[in-house]
Amino acid sequence: MKNIILGIESSCDDTSAAVIADGLLLSNVIASQKVHEAYGGVVPELASRAHQQNIVPVVSEAIRQAGIKISDLSAIAYTRGPGLLGSLLVGTSFAKGMALGLNIPLIDVNHLHAHVLSHFIKEKQEDETPQFPFLCLLVSGGNSQIILVKDYFDMEILGKTIDDAAGEAFDKCAKVIGLPYPGGPHIDRLAQTGNPDAFKFSKPHIPDLDYSFSGLKTSFLYTIRDYMKSNPKFIEENMEDLCASLQKTIIDILLDKLKKAIRQTGVKSVAIGGGVSANSGVRNAIEELCIRQGLKPWIPQRKFTTDNAAMVAIAGYHKLLNKDYSDLALPPFARVTI
Ligand code: KG4
Repeated sequence: MKNIILGIESSCDDTSAAVIADGLLLSNVIASQKVHEAYGGVVPELASRAHQQNIVPVVSEAIRQAGIKISDLSAIAYTRGPGLLGSLLVGTSFAKGMALGLNIPLIDVNHLHAHVLSHFIKEKQEDETPQFPFLCLLVSGGNSQIILVKDYFDMEILGKTIDDAAGEAFDKCAKVIGLPYPGGPHIDRLAQTGNPDAFKFSKPHIPDLDYSFSGLKTSFLYTIRDYMKSNPKFIEENMEDLCASLQKTIIDILLDKLKKAIRQTGVKSVAIGGGVSANSGVRNAIEELCIRQGLKPWIPQRKFTTDNAAMVAIAGYHKLLNKDYSDLALPPFARVTI
């Protein structure tokens, strides 16, 4: 093994470390933080403290599961941003200290690049990876973007949200109907047995390839408020239908712009990434769209959709091949685009 890279991810509320050797994933360890559930959202200060507690055991476990020694590492890649500054500082400081101590290169990774490049993670040598160019619909708790991926680090954002992200739409609407945080997976589960056409919620009219989800959130809230005036048990009696109708509306909004982007670019394959790409409805809709249009769909395994260090390690691996190293003085960035 020539190039063995450790990836470290700490941008939000998951502490993760992964090892990739010559392009193959050897380990991917994730410690999720339960502490936020009580607050209905991620509390930044609690997230940084949990990262501090988790980072040493998570990195040690990733090294152990990979069956390597720390001295075997060729480089360390870490998420520089975007994300919560306090959380990023933990991973950044740890990665810098470790790289300095081992006297090996440090590689900074853009979290958004990493989500897109998760399609290049290989668990077996024969695993297929996308051909450039392709479109990636990146949908998470913080982003909703349509990205034209021309090469590993040559990406163009064709459209993005002007307000809430798709994940926020799931989470905020879930909160309205009393589901725990993060609400996306709960809506996904309840939607399976609901009628997607039971309720109609408003869709945005935004030009070009941009998204907007804040109007949907308001429409969802007002619909429920109106029904509850005559039936206080409206939510509990219609839970599954509300979830299925909300999920269908979010998918319609996402696909509407994605279809436009496919027409405009003429790409032959479409990928999805980010936490919301774990949604069964989103995954099925992309697959069906690609089948109908003769395109190749790239649907990531669920474990690579939410924040994980395997995607940081693969992005770092491609930078390592280009000897694209980072300066130890680089600060983390809370806000950064592709
Ligand atoms: O990429 P990610 O882990 O990190 C952030 O951007 O924070 O995405 C988290 C988001 C949350 O909004 C969560 O509700 C959503 O992804 N999510 C889902 C599902 N799984 C995670 N949304 C809908 N359906 C799911 N199955």
